[in-house]
Amino acid sequence: MSVNWEQIDECVQQWIIEAGARIKETFDQTLTIETKSSRSDLVTNVDKEIEQFFIERIRKKFPTHRVLGEEGFGDDVSALEGVVWVIDPIDGTMNFIHQKRNFAISIGVFENAVGMLGYVYDVVNDELYYARKGKGAFLNDRPLPRLQPVSIPEAIVCLNAAWVIENKRIDPSVLTPLVKEARGTRSYGSAALEMAYIAAGRLDAYITMRLSPWDFAGGLVIVEEVGGVVTDIYGEPLQLLRPSSVFVSKPGLHEEILNRYIRKS
Ligand code: IPD
Ligand code: CA
Ligand code: CA
Repeated sequence: MSVNWEQIDECVQQWIIEAGARIKETFDQTLTIETKSSRSDLVTNVDKEIEQFFIERIRKKFPTHRVLGEEGFGDDVSALEGVVWVIDPIDGTMNFIHQKRNFAISIGVFENAVGMLGYVYDVVNDELYYARKGKGAFLNDRPLPRLQPVSIPEAIVCLNAAWVIENKRIDPSVLTPLVKEARGTRSYGSAALEMAYIAAGRLDAYITMRLSPWDFAGGLVIVEEVGGVVTDIYGEPLQLLRPSSVFVSKPGLHEEILNRYIRKS
């Protein structure tokens, strides 16, 4: 049976705005904050409530679809056949707790491992970035133009300082020359938003050494729809069901960064 993507898109857009309003309502409430794998890996009662909000609706409206959610309320998804939703109820939880901004709801919907719909909703700024495969990407109602090549000296590279100091995932000397040669660097603390910013042309490249599928699923569909390139740090296609390094960039710049800094290291 063919999937009615228009209907799914309509539901997601409606649900995501409703979920955003619920998150905003919690701004003056006391959060229950827990740590997961480390003191910087945080979860709140709101993350859990919002994931459940989506899962209840998906199960009711699309009972054959499966859901992979960060907080574990979805299904045990070990393969991507059929329709699979990948949800991060709050991407940038640390920002949500400390700043009440710079976080987003991220949703990617895949069919047999192909990204069909992608959403990143910047709740505080009421900016919804979304894309449907082959139908274009949008920021609210404005179509996002295709990304144009840019050179390294004119590029803003999004990179967490953690990757240019001693760390366990990459030799810091690999990316320091890129930091020196780029026009500037930025880091916002929400992978989903950072990918949406690439799609919107606000950033030119984004490099990180470890993300989980729910961090990049929504952004992946949006970035690819405007001609951006999404791979791991070595230029290989992303594995959609396991943690991976992620390198997102405008076309041309992607090859240039790989050849100049990463492949030669
Ligand atoms: C985190 C954010 C952050 C990235 C972390 C993620 P969370 O997601 O995307 O930018 O650097 O690796 O875990 O935990 O706030 O949903
Ligand atoms: Ca996340
Ligand atoms: Ca999260």
